[in-house]
Amino acid sequence: MTRGMTDQNHDVLVIGSGAAGLTAALELAQTKKVLVLAKGKLTSGSTAWAQGGIAAVLDAGDTFENHIRDTMVAGAGLNDLDTVEFVIERAPKAIDRLCELGVPFNRDDGDLHLTREGGHSHRRIVHVDDATGWAVQAALLKAAEENPNITLLPHQSCIDLITGRNQEEFSGSGRVWGAYALDEESGEVVTHVARATVLAAGGAGRVYLFSTAPRGATGDGIAMAWRAGARVSNMEMMQFHPTCLYNLEVKNFLITEAVRGEGGRLFNPVTGERYMEQYDKERMELAPRDIVARANDDQIKRYGLDYVHLDISHQPPEFVKEHFPTIHEKLMGLGIDMTRQPIPVVPAQHYTCGGVKIGLDAKTDLPGLWAAGECTESGLHGANRLASNSLLECFVFGEAAAKDILSCWDQLDEPPEIRPWDASRVTDSDEEVVIKQNWTEIRRFMWNYVGIVRTTKRLERAGNRIEMMRQEVEDYYGSFRVTTDLIELRNLLDCAGLIVKSALRRHESRGLHFILDYPETDSVARDTVLVP
Ligand code: FAD
Ligand code: SIN
Repeated sequence: MTRGMTDQNHDVLVIGSGAAGLTAALELAQTKKVLVLAKGKLTSGSTAWAQGGIAAVLDAGDTFENHIRDTMVAGAGLNDLDTVEFVIERAPKAIDRLCELGVPFNRDDGDLHLTREGGHSHRRIVHVDDATGWAVQAALLKAAEENPNITLLPHQSCIDLITGRNQEEFSGSGRVWGAYALDEESGEVVTHVARATVLAAGGAGRVYLFSTAPRGATGDGIAMAWRAGARVSNMEMMQFHPTCLYNLEVKNFLITEAVRGEGGRLFNPVTGERYMEQYDKERMELAPRDIVARANDDQIKRYGLDYVHLDISHQPPEFVKEHFPTIHEKLMGLGIDMTRQPIPVVPAQHYTCGGVKIGLDAKTDLPGLWAAGECTESGLHGANRLASNSLLECFVFGEAAAKDILSCWDQLDEPPEIRPWDASRVTDSDEEVVIKQNWTEIRRFMWNYVGIVRTTKRLERAGNRIEMMRQEVEDYYGSFRVTTDLIELRNLLDCAGLIVKSALRRHESRGLHFILDYPETDSVARDTVLVP
């Protein structure tokens, strides 16, 4: 029998090295030994790609009530008020902590500079130029690397959570004891056993053909928790960002919402019309994201366009270069001078609002499993995430998960004997083409049938295709040695199934879920909760 390695040297396993995972790890490491796993490099998640910034009430003229109201308005009332208050009231402290860790936020005369984004009634986004995520990721990683209680292990692609079913003495319970992970370098499967596990594996953006998210955003955390028996909610609430660069070579470069926050305007490149007036006369380009994304989509489809124009060239060139140095440099490399020309943009998938259901203590349904960040549905975002609220959610729930684990540590049992991974019945694949074909197919039909504007008929078509592919992928999974591509394909398919099932259950249009068969919004907002 081919049995992989077992690693049992840590108290807590954290799956994911982005903002949520590292925040949890740093807090836990005060007294526990923590192992942090990442798929690919430690910087491979969305955190490093974040541009705009982090929302927090820091201006004397702003209030928590304003931020709470803006979050609930963007979320179309599906948000959980307790969660919204919990997160927003903790934002200033989260920013203080990041300052202590050395994040070099932009300042004006010593005070933090606050930019503005869609849906925010005030300036309240702290940022590091237009590359906030990179600075945050670097500061968290540096602190984790310097901490003797934290071990960072990249290139570990988790396959499944370990539960009672995997104990040597089968218990059948959903208690989580860590995860099986493919070591991407050796090809071996390692059994990472832990007394507590924190899932912080990011979103599922890559289930769509066009997405601003990194290659590894394949919903692994959501799919693993679902297969282990945890509920997931609001998976139909997929956020599309209105302004992803349209370029045939560079497929997923975001043009931050802060460009509109600092005066950028949207135009139809054929008619020259500043069309947002038709869709949201009052807020124009600073309407919440779902409204602007649908407006861009509508213009593109109605006029048969490849893209619309985002123009900030009316602002002084020095202002543009100072606020958006990364974007300016990137565009110059592609022959677009944003200080003089409009930028061609299209909507693209951007953020997964739904996910593994958690409470204010970051607990999931499964004993031994906590979760934080984009893989969760905490109640903060509701039917549409307000810009720059997601990094904030990672900091608040990463800390909440750690605090809860520490507070109940003595009640957590020592892990039992766990069966190592059994690879005795599988062989090397001789048909990699199956994986490639299915990867492309899912992402294409999800874009075409389960995109910005939906119909029941198209959702059903997508559902039928998912069922057909499921058998093929499960057969393949049961026969061949796992690779990261295969792990991701299986997860993409599970997430696609969860999105379609949730979308079919919601018989109304609300926030990000816009369905032509049910254009009205119900008077009562209800979560779509799927039970395994
Ligand atoms: P991530 O940062 O995505 O990290 C996921 C981690 O899980 C990674 O380490 C990954 O390797 C690991 N992982 C995944 N699968 C596995 C597996 N199977 N096994 C082991 N490890 C695994 N939000 C804001 O608030 N402000 C912004 O300005 C902003 N800008 C954005 C710009 C872009 C282009 C994008 C894509 C997103 C942006 N967001 C922004 C959203 C925000 O970046 C994310 O929601 C947030 O960073 C998610 O953090 P996380 O810790 O949950 O996950
Ligand atoms: C952006 O910079 O436009 C992204 C902000 C976010 O996703 O919160």
